[in-house]
Amino acid sequence: MPREPILSAAPPQDEDFHRDLRPQRIVDMVGQRDVIERLNIVVDAARKRGESLGHILFDGPPGLGKTTFANCIPRELGVPLVTASGPGIKAPKDLIPYLTNLEEHAVLFIDEIHRLPKAVEEYLYSAMEDFRLDIVLGDGINARTINLRLKRFTLIGATTRAGMLSAPLRDRFATREHLGFYSLSELTEIVRRSAKKLNVKLHDDAASEIARRSRATPRIANNRLRWVRDFADSQAGGIVTLDVARAALAMAGIDVLGLDKQDRGYLETIIRVFTGGPAGVEAIAHTMNLSPDTLTDEVEPYLLRSELLVRTPRGRVVTAKAYEHLQLPSPADTDDQRRLFA
Ligand SMILES: Nc1ncnc2c1ncn2[C@@H]1O[C@H](COP(=O)(O)OP(=O)(O)OP(=O)(O)O)[C@@H](O)[C@H]1O
Ligand SMILES: [Mg+2]
Repeated sequence: MPREPILSAAPPQDEDFHRDLRPQRIVDMVGQRDVIERLNIVVDAARKRGESLGHILFDGPPGLGKTTFANCIPRELGVPLVTASGPGIKAPKDLIPYLTNLEEHAVLFIDEIHRLPKAVEEYLYSAMEDFRLDIVLGDGINARTINLRLKRFTLIGATTRAGMLSAPLRDRFATREHLGFYSLSELTEIVRRSAKKLNVKLHDDAASEIARRSRATPRIANNRLRWVRDFADSQAGGIVTLDVARAALAMAGIDVLGLDKQDRGYLETIIRVFTGGPAGVEAIAHTMNLSPDTLTDEVEPYLLRSELLVRTPRGRVVTAKAYEHLQLPSPADTDDQRRLFA
């Protein structure tokens, strides 16, 4: 019987699964030591002074802990959290219920803040700086301005694209933190802790193998752990040894560098269609039938970090390391061969 393809390109999104694994307090978070040290100081100072915490912006690739930090901070402060998302706020008036219902010192978390429309961003300036909202409702002769005084609140923004925020909005965040990729030992620790929470019997070498193949990203590590656990339960008596982990990851199309089919497809497209580059991201996205945002937000950051890809002013170029990893002849090799057989 042919086997069903098991893991689709999109990682499974099971809310309960992620809620259970998400650290609840900052002390439970692994890695990001310098970010945590700075956050502990501003949180502690705000608490000692009994003031609201300054606004905080988190940026970095998906799955590195932006939402996790945003959820932990109000818990540390003992204040309520209200969550909104950039694409959900379409017009300035959509901000009103969020801002006017905030309690003193509460946290408003706006996820994907780079997707707020420009007009909404502009209203946030005075809300963030002066805790005031002057909104014009209606237009022409019926227009009227509403002036609202807001309680002192903390805005936490998260974005995968800090560069897309307007400078005035960016500058109104007192603290800006970039979340970077995790080291192998940090990610191994996250896999071990998640396995414990999920009651998975996981050998140490299997934990580091899963971490090594998780693109330095906690969310991916947790997803891969979940897949390996399913594989072990179904095929290997529930115990995750190194061999079981390797077999499970291979079956899901995850290679030794942790790249999945989409990552390899991206590199192969540049090589096959654009002779290795330089190629513009729109053209690559078009060829792959994906949105350019998916490529720049989800696929490229890790390929850049792994030095499989470089960005040049003229477009993306794959590196010799990428040819080697994909076991494809690089143009340099082909030139040598041509010379050899000429
Ligand atoms: N520092 C950490 N320690 C332990 N687990 C973490 C850490 N950071 C993230 N995780 C785990 O990874 C998962 C994804 O993190 P999170 O949702 O915070 O990412 P994100 O940066 O908000 O991603 P996105 O940009 O896609 O919204 C969390 O559910 C959590 O279990
Ligand atoms: Mg998030």
